Amino acid sequence: MHSIVHLLNHTFAMYQQPNNRLKNQTCIVTGANSGIGRAVAMSMARDGANVVVNYVFGDEAAQQVVDEIAQMGGTAIAYKADVSKEDQVIAMFQETIATFGTVDILVNNAGLQRDSAFHNMTLKDWQFVLDVNLTGQFLCSREAIREFLRRGPRPDVSVALGKIICMSSVHEVIPWGGHVNYAASKGGVMLMMKSLAQEYGPMKIRINSVGPGAIKTPINRPAWETPEAEAKLLELIPYQRVGETSDIGAAAVWLASDESDYIHGTTIFVDGGMTLYPGFTENG
Ligand code: BGC
Repeated sequence: MHSIVHLLNHTFAMYQQPNNRLKNQTCIVTGANSGIGRAVAMSMARDGANVVVNYVFGDEAAQQVVDEIAQMGGTAIAYKADVSKEDQVIAMFQETIATFGTVDILVNNAGLQRDSAFHNMTLKDWQFVLDVNLTGQFLCSREAIREFLRRGPRPDVSVALGKIICMSSVHEVIPWGGHVNYAASKGGVMLMMKSLAQEYGPMKIRINSVGPGAIKTPINRPAWETPEAEAKLLELIPYQRVGETSDIGAAAVWLASDESDYIHGTTIFVDGGMTLYPGFTENG
């Protein structure tokens, strides 16, 4: 049963057709050489955007994403920068503007976990997660907004002045013991995103989040790689499948396109119903 579902998902991802919703737009995707970021970069390119594949470690994997995009007729460059470092983020935006003219879409995807029981959590692990997951989104969003305001409208490509998509998590609302630094970072992303949306909506900058649930990526491999682990994980997912990265790619492209022009300041959960608190089924 699971393998059939898997096959169907795979087939769906392979035959997703390009429809050029993002033609002539440029998109920076942070943390785009693996997992969700990689799928988002591919989906953006499939819909016609020039893509900057940002990464911090793994030059080869980043080049592979660029090559795959080129193979399907798209345009991409790889750019190495640590999103938590102000000078590197500023340089990445400068390089993007020098190469493609401007930035239309930012996907704040780079993120990581450093899990531990709270009483054992080091300040270093607390700080590291907050630096990448939250400060990284601050630095990139600030440069994107500066560029949108500098450049002005491009009505030939989009109704909005620019779009920002923050990669959040179901853990912006679901508390997560053993992962307090991560949950705090995603809770922070939620109110950063909403406050930015409130502040810049009047300038036609459209800002939203995607809140993935359990998606098969390296970040949570132990949670799905054995049948036992997967069965346990599925208890948390009413729709009864673990997500694929292409599920997130599809949502992100739609959020970046004018099809979702009236969606502003909200989180779209892509989680098979994880935020429905399935533990309450016939309970409570
Ligand atoms: C985390 C994953 C986890 C998922 C559901 C994500 O934000 O990065 O490790 O499996 O949330 O709990």
